[in-house]
Amino acid sequence: MDSILVTGNGPLDGQIPIAGAKNACLTLMPATLLSEEPLTLTNAPRLSDIKTMTALLQSLGAEVTTLQDGQVLAMSSHDLDSHVADYDIVRKMRASILVLGPMLARDGHAVVSLPGGCAIGARPVDLHLKALEAMGAELELKEGYVHAKAPGGLKGGVVEFPLVSVGATENALMAATLAKGTTVLKNAAREPEIVDLAQCLRKMGAQIEGEGTSEITIQGVDRLHGATHPVVTDRIELGTFMLAPAICGGEVECLGGRIDLVEAFCERLDAAGVSVEETEAGLKVARKNGRVRAVDVVTEPFPGFPTDLQAQMMALMCTAEGTSVLEEKIFENRFMHAPELMRMGAKIDVHGGTATVTGVERLKGAPVMATDLRASVSLILAGLAAEGETLVNRVYHLDRGYERVEEKLGNVGARIERVQGE
Ligand code: UD1
Repeated sequence: MDSILVTGNGPLDGQIPIAGAKNACLTLMPATLLSEEPLTLTNAPRLSDIKTMTALLQSLGAEVTTLQDGQVLAMSSHDLDSHVADYDIVRKMRASILVLGPMLARDGHAVVSLPGGCAIGARPVDLHLKALEAMGAELELKEGYVHAKAPGGLKGGVVEFPLVSVGATENALMAATLAKGTTVLKNAAREPEIVDLAQCLRKMGAQIEGEGTSEITIQGVDRLHGATHPVVTDRIELGTFMLAPAICGGEVECLGGRIDLVEAFCERLDAAGVSVEETEAGLKVARKNGRVRAVDVVTEPFPGFPTDLQAQMMALMCTAEGTSVLEEKIFENRFMHAPELMRMGAKIDVHGGTATVTGVERLKGAPVMATDLRASVSLILAGLAAEGETLVNRVYHLDRGYERVEEKLGNVGARIERVQGE
């Protein structure tokens, strides 16, 4: 298994191109199952999670061709020869559940394995299932699989989510495009990835209003047609790389970055004393003098501070002046990076969903273990701010969500290299 070796750094300088969003791409890809005509995605990120979704779609009979070095995904679901999403693929990636709504909406039946446990809490899929039931789906759970049927097709209905779920909103939105009549999704997620999905579905002929607000209304249509759609910028990759100059000092321009994707995050950076400036090509981040100030963070659904940037923000707070309180409100058990950061000399106290971080002047390099995707990159950021060498082990998590991280950081002056595993 590969590792990443990071050596503590001075200031960074240069530009980092930001890729298309993993989480948007993982919901746009299953949208191909809604139509018999081709769907082409441009600006796709080159990540192992995208390969997993490709394998899942292919296992259902969809054609997926990668062009331009993986940045274009040409998909066609003319004939589906299977409606079974197998455990062997689904267990690798929770987002696999997103094939359920589209298959059911198009052909009236689907069998999808339950995703199973996950390192960051229980993460059930009950909200996905309840939303589809509200549209007339008949569901049965048997031997770890959801068996779904909608013999006369799905019917529009009112779906009121008891809590905001990105994935459940996506599944319901896709299913509703082909349901008979009108569907209203209340307390819907407002994430940019939902807006991107709605825009793509509209290009395919769907009738949708209200995406980006908490109430989305969908008027079902008989069929969807083909389309070409560029994947929105990855706001989590953007936020992660914006933290690199915040931690090391210097100035980095993140190409393709947009403030509206990361507003709550930028507000916290500003409070910490890190400057963010909009440029023609993206966002320029600079920290010129002294340590950053400690700031408190509460994770919330969009437009709040994203849970997917909590671990990386904690890495910054480890060397801030003062004490910060980070409250994780989306997922239980999402502080597994804390003990690893403590191996590097960080002072962190975790109590339930709250972590109190007292900044130290300098972290010290150490061998550490990546426990999940965002945790692994937080350890890389911490390594850049540490004295000496940090070896981040088990980086396969990292490859699920970050494209060529060592190259992108290396190009702005970071001392980082991949150590090939056996
Ligand atoms: C998506 C993102 C993930 C991000 C998360 C929150 C993808 C592929 N992943 O995950 O990176 O961290 O949004 O921004 O887009 N819940 C239930 N029942 C359900 C579904 C969710 O109780 O059926 C709970 C979850 O356990 C969690 C909360 O709802 O506590 C929010 O989860 P959700 O928004 O659904 O996250 P994902 O869509 O899985």
